[in-house]
Amino acid sequence: MTNIINAYKYFFALLVLLSCINCKSVDEQVSEIAQSGKHKDPHTYSNFNSIVLNHLDLDLSIDFEHKILMGSATWTTDKLDKKDDKIILDTYKLNIDSILLDNGKKALYHLDKHDDILGSALTIKIEHNTNKFTVYYRTHPTATALQWLSAQQTFDKKHPFLYTQGESIYTRSWIPCQDAPAVRFTYNATIKTPRELMAVMSASNMQEKNKDGVYHFEMKQKIPAYLVALAVGDLQFKPLTDKMGVYAEPSQIHKCVAELADLNTMMHAAEQLYGPYAWDRYDVLFLPSGFPFGGMENPRLTFATPTILTGDKSLVNLIAHELAHSWSGNLVTNATWNDFWLNESFTVYFERRIMEAVEGKEFAAMLWDIGLQDLNNSLKKYKDNNQLPLTKLKLDLTNQDPDLGLTDFAYEKGAAMLLLIEQTIGRPALDTFIQQYFEQKKFTSVFTDDFDKFISKNLFNKYPDLRTQIKFDEWIYEEGLPSVSPVIDNIRFKEVENFANDLWINNNIDAQATKLWSTFEWLHFIRYIQQKIKDKSFLATLDQKFNLSNTTNAEIATQWYVLAIKMEYDNVLEPMKLFLKETGRMKFLEPIYEALYTQNSNYQKLSKELFQQYKMNYHPLAQKSVAQILNVSL
Ligand code: BES
Ligand code: ZN
Repeated sequence: MTNIINAYKYFFALLVLLSCINCKSVDEQVSEIAQSGKHKDPHTYSNFNSIVLNHLDLDLSIDFEHKILMGSATWTTDKLDKKDDKIILDTYKLNIDSILLDNGKKALYHLDKHDDILGSALTIKIEHNTNKFTVYYRTHPTATALQWLSAQQTFDKKHPFLYTQGESIYTRSWIPCQDAPAVRFTYNATIKTPRELMAVMSASNMQEKNKDGVYHFEMKQKIPAYLVALAVGDLQFKPLTDKMGVYAEPSQIHKCVAELADLNTMMHAAEQLYGPYAWDRYDVLFLPSGFPFGGMENPRLTFATPTILTGDKSLVNLIAHELAHSWSGNLVTNATWNDFWLNESFTVYFERRIMEAVEGKEFAAMLWDIGLQDLNNSLKKYKDNNQLPLTKLKLDLTNQDPDLGLTDFAYEKGAAMLLLIEQTIGRPALDTFIQQYFEQKKFTSVFTDDFDKFISKNLFNKYPDLRTQIKFDEWIYEEGLPSVSPVIDNIRFKEVENFANDLWINNNIDAQATKLWSTFEWLHFIRYIQQKIKDKSFLATLDQKFNLSNTTNAEIATQWYVLAIKMEYDNVLEPMKLFLKETGRMKFLEPIYEALYTQNSNYQKLSKELFQQYKMNYHPLAQKSVAQILNVSL
């Protein structure tokens, strides 16, 4: 211990001395490195422009009692700029125990001051021939990437559960790393778990529990840090095909398998569209309901919310979405979080092409329609809140939280632009271009500027008017939405509107038609009648007819609760409370808490009470987001 302290003091003194010579603080030097060269990434401290760490060996034990991961990360580099005498890694609240170089010597290191968004830079002094080093460390119990669930917070209520969420910059809270999406590496891992649990990662996975609780993983393809993922729990595996399967808690597994019956068709459609699947296996892990996202495209192993288990397969577009990321995102990756739209907009477009192949054109049209409605609603909100810069595709999030870029613009605006290109030049021409883009850029990271050059060279050259015709520069570089937009012919929503109009006139109308509705028709129905309803008695009529307050479909429930809150229709309060207790997905929590908070003072009081009561069930990110909505501190 004294050794470490001495080493630390010595190194710090050296840094101070050096910075005096340069008349620059360590901070300034660090930020200069991150900002220099071709790769500007405002969300990493790492000096990845001069040193790229291209392989990780991870060795971690899991301590559920103290909510700590403990062990080591060994990094290898094969390309070392001999001028460099230090490596800078990203960390977030990590406890560093020691660092060893490959020559067996202890390295001097310095952990810089903590920034709430970026964490702290870990500067490690290396020698001229260092190409491997090991960081021994422990995570903090409040690590932002980790959700520790008690047995009570799982479906089966028997064992605790842990999972990680790396995107965007959370991996640094459980692995010291170059946490920049432009850096790719392969990894091996050894994870030691309590014996009754099973560990799975975004890598090669076991399909059965190991008796000794020790699991080994290998990820042979290079991936960025945000795609390293781990989950540990009482898991069971069921195959869907010889290359695909499902992991879930035992009580859920059959339901999950049934919901994913079309996965093979999706995979086939995806490969037909944009080339062979590059990651060997594709499995889906269903998490407990506290998972803050719908899905996360961890390579080889998508993490998914159980809220898509509706029993009628009507929300599996979420799986199509995560599968599509195996090309857009995981193969061709946004170079920084300012280029996040490259990941999500291509994926949304691709997702809807897969869904069209599986469910038909009319189904895909509903997805496009809902997406464009969301986009327009978001635009109004961002305008009202003076946040128009966030409506651009190419962002500048310097000194800001990268998750501010997680908007409908990153998803729907770029997807709409791609659909407009499709409608302007025809599908075959766009498909050829996208195939070429994935093929040429695979296993690399792309800046928006690179994409601009690529599309200029490979598409606009063939269609010289296209750039101005579709107003490409407005889509990418300007706020709001351009005057040209794609056209969507959505028969099924027209039918919903006709039904709603008839119902409006004649309450006794036969509700048979709704028996065939998917989730999206219901969503549109609720959105549509919302414009007409003047008092809550009509909500009671609807509720009697369709039992909406008791729906088990989380999408429909959220839409209905929000409308009911606005109309102060109190019959929803009990099922809504249960929903808020059991669901951790931010997409649902945020609008419900917001509606409660803004509607009236009673609901506002209730919203704060419910949050106090249930927040322990939510992921740290969801807690933070709801706390902001309710104007309370955590
Ligand atoms: N990659 C995202 C999730 C994400 C984005 C996590 C940014 C953290 C930071 C994932 O692919 C996604 O988009 N999920 C959506 C699915 C939906 C669009 C079908 C979700 O979680 O709702
Ligand atoms: Zn996505």
